[in-house]
Amino acid sequence: MRVAGHSAPVTEALLDQVVQQTHEFLGALDGGRVGTRVTAEELRRQLDAPLPEQSQDPAAVIGDLIRAAQPGLTLMSSGRYFGFVIGGSLPVALAADWLTSAWDQNAGLFAPTPAASVVEEVVGAWLKEILGLPPHASFALVTGGQMANFTALAAARHHVLATVGWNVERQGLIGAPRLRVIAGVKRHATIDRALRYLGLGTDGVEAVDTDDQGRMLPAALARVLGEEREPAIVCAQAGEVNTGAVDDLQAICTIAHRADAWVHVDGAFGLWAAASARHRHLVAGAELADSWATDCHKWLNVPYDCGVALCAHPESHRAAMTVHAEYLIQSPAGGPRDPVDWNPEFSRRARAFTVYAALRTLGRSGVADLVERCCSRARQFAESLRTVPGVEVLNDVVMNQVLVRFTRGAQDGEYDDAYTLAVIAHVQDSGVCWMG
Ligand SMILES: Cc1ncc(COP(=O)(O)O)c(C=O)c1O
Repeated sequence: MRVAGHSAPVTEALLDQVVQQTHEFLGALDGGRVGTRVTAEELRRQLDAPLPEQSQDPAAVIGDLIRAAQPGLTLMSSGRYFGFVIGGSLPVALAADWLTSAWDQNAGLFAPTPAASVVEEVVGAWLKEILGLPPHASFALVTGGQMANFTALAAARHHVLATVGWNVERQGLIGAPRLRVIAGVKRHATIDRALRYLGLGTDGVEAVDTDDQGRMLPAALARVLGEEREPAIVCAQAGEVNTGAVDDLQAICTIAHRADAWVHVDGAFGLWAAASARHRHLVAGAELADSWATDCHKWLNVPYDCGVALCAHPESHRAAMTVHAEYLIQSPAGGPRDPVDWNPEFSRRARAFTVYAALRTLGRSGVADLVERCCSRARQFAESLRTVPGVEVLNDVVMNQVLVRFTRGAQDGEYDDAYTLAVIAHVQDSGVCWMG
């Protein structure tokens, strides 16, 4: 299905227009307002119009889109953007992302796009190496941490139910043996959402107490697991979104495996600590788990969207995801890797190109440096904030997260959430930097 009017001069002119705009946008990252003040109403006035009856001039459409949308964009790639755990884009990853769009490969199967498949294989091996995970683990490049958690937990669901003779892909969950899901109180919201997608629901999650940094307490996990030997999945975390704290993965894996439970590690950003010799100790024991979720669009700084699910039991991963259709040209057993066997998507973007470009450019030392620089900047951030009267740093800054609240007066230590929110709103409004 080729697009009508896909002529070389039109494409060239449009891409030149976009290159020009990109230079301007990226040029503003250092000095421009980070946040936006525009209201939804103002944006709608510029963008909302009746669906056109007739074709429009593409250059005018792109020009209008830039003019109308730009006031509503936040400079998330700027060094002054500190919201959530959002990464920027390495120049090489952005370039590879443009290529990915221009090449427009549907990267589900090897046969129609061998290059996308092979690059993905290479990227999978590199990721396991840099994250310190077992070389035999399977993987999938998905849209983000949310879908990585979903994919890994689908593999877990298959595996633990198969051990009691239940094939969840064929038989579903109605009438299935009981499946326990155990997770820390401070798990990320995407774990619960993945459980919803998987038909496991959230009411039945057995919550394990955490310490003041959000780390699951191993002794509490042992208590919750008890002596039962039912199919069970334990969701651990590497990198609590507010504090950056990592569960004691070594202890959790030992306790959970003693009970034959599957351990999944949500390490959307935290797993990347393994790339740095200085911070690797934080994720010690991660390699003992059964599955992992992480993101490349966070700490690796590739453009959205790119998450990774990994699994120490490739046969369970594949069983949970694989799909067949007569019209597909699928690789024979032992043949080249078809991404569709490992991914929840059918048609999909060739995400591996950006990751390949980023990892090859940075190399092992470049990724380690990236992690170490971010962590040392976080410590510097916290140390400087501690010297400011009325600012209280609440977490142990072990990784890249700094959690603060604002007090009304340095002496009385009085604080309330409304005051903290007001300070943040004021900072955002200043445009100097942006924090969550
Ligand atoms: C610990 C953790 N898990 C999962 C996610 C979700 O990742 P994504 O936004 O890529 O879906 C996040 C995002 O902040 C996270 O911090």
